[in-house]
Amino acid sequence: MKRTKIASILANEQTDYDVVVKGWIRSVRNNQFIALNDGSCLANLQVVATAGIVDEETMKHIVAGASVAVTGKVVASLGKGQRVEVQASTIELLGKCDNEQYPLQLKNKPSLEYLREIAHLRFRTNTFGAVFRVRHSLAFAVHRFFNERGFVYLHTPIVTASDAEGAGEMFRVTTLSPTAPPLTEDGAVNYKEDFFGRCTNLTVSGQLEAELGAMALSEVYTFGPTFRAENSNTARHLAEFWMIEPEVAFNDINDNMDLAEAFIKYVIQYTLTHNTEDLQFLAQRLDEEEKLKPMNERSEMGLMEKLQFVVNNEFERITYTQAIDVLLSSPAYKKKKFQYDVQWGIDLQSEHERYLVEKHFKKPVIVTGYPKDIKAFYMRLNDDGKTVAAMDILAPGIGEIVGGSQREERLDNLLKRMKEMHIPTEEMYWYLDTRRFGTVPHAGFGLGFERLVLFVTGMTNIRDVIPFPRTPKNADF
Ligand code: 4AD
Ligand code: MG
Repeated sequence: MKRTKIASILANEQTDYDVVVKGWIRSVRNNQFIALNDGSCLANLQVVATAGIVDEETMKHIVAGASVAVTGKVVASLGKGQRVEVQASTIELLGKCDNEQYPLQLKNKPSLEYLREIAHLRFRTNTFGAVFRVRHSLAFAVHRFFNERGFVYLHTPIVTASDAEGAGEMFRVTTLSPTAPPLTEDGAVNYKEDFFGRCTNLTVSGQLEAELGAMALSEVYTFGPTFRAENSNTARHLAEFWMIEPEVAFNDINDNMDLAEAFIKYVIQYTLTHNTEDLQFLAQRLDEEEKLKPMNERSEMGLMEKLQFVVNNEFERITYTQAIDVLLSSPAYKKKKFQYDVQWGIDLQSEHERYLVEKHFKKPVIVTGYPKDIKAFYMRLNDDGKTVAAMDILAPGIGEIVGGSQREERLDNLLKRMKEMHIPTEEMYWYLDTRRFGTVPHAGFGLGFERLVLFVTGMTNIRDVIPFPRTPKNADF
């Protein structure tokens, strides 16, 4: 007989049919009631092992963490807490589990910090099962959203010779010997002898290549891993993260904002519809975590309420200049509560972003028109000559979740800006060619996938929404 997934047994109205279920034991009660989980859903299946169906020696190994195959009948449950259970006729032990050493005993609830150290096993907890099912759904919804709108999924390179953000935060990719690399006559490392015949890095963004695609296919998006060697040891930064980057020909900054807002609402609505059980569990987890905080730091909305709110309300749209004015006239500024100074020209710090979304507007905020000096070379210069058509979306509890812009499509302006910012124009002839051969206005953005997963799951540390986080001084597993 074929294996039936626990999710489908629990969703099925029928009873009194035979099944084979396989999974990992979460707990055993009274030597008889086994809580079995196979990851297909949050809930465990209760397996009833009446005396005699398992020999004494095997019964010793029916413990939390062991894996089993159960043959039996789905019956209505007389006990509380479950509608149906499986009355086992045979239980085959697939894999033993050393109870002394297994770190996931139900007795004491492990902390998220501890679970990070055993990230190879944390999938087996309710919290991480829920997080990774929601993460999956979000990824699926991303593709569905763009597919429904006729976008082409473009696979941009992971190894690249260009620094798309011009921020110099790249990981080098090389096959040269670290101890004795070939040298040029003047003693520098000779990258001509490297695998690609030049210096290469892991990509920080697929945007530049996505722009090339958009200049023919009109609407493209990327969804892939990106890498940043920034030494930010925060709960919002990873060295390896996944980014979604749509790029659309003929779109201006307003179209770009509309697309980003519709996109975020769509993927959240998708999980609200398809991951209700997991989200409700995560909402409860968050409630418990919030209760440990002082009153004034607790969020006003529960997780489900927050997600519904975001789906049902328009994002606030303001300019950078307006944002600075809001900050300057805020009680927080007047009472000198901000650690960093506020004045026109600064890069908004996370305390400023959080003030805007959490205290002032109390909803996601799209900020446009940033000073050109704090943004990347490719952003379109506004008529005032000092701001660019940039947009950041700030989300409650997260800060920046999206960064994007209308791109500078005018060759002269772009060349001027690249020279000012020391971006190599000759090497990037291919980027400039799009401005030479039929340039058009276009715009795009990048959404940090893990920041989205943080927002939707209500988890608070980005290390807990990617299976195996890469952060400074850590590349375990
Ligand atoms: O604002 P960023 O740097 O923008 C770009 O890379 C553009 N090329 C995107 C584009 O226009 N196509 O990054 C975009 C988003 C941020 O808003 C943030 O959500 C996420 O990527 N991000 C990170 N997420 C996790 N860890 C990090 N170290 C991140 N750096 C950026
Ligand atoms: Mg940014």
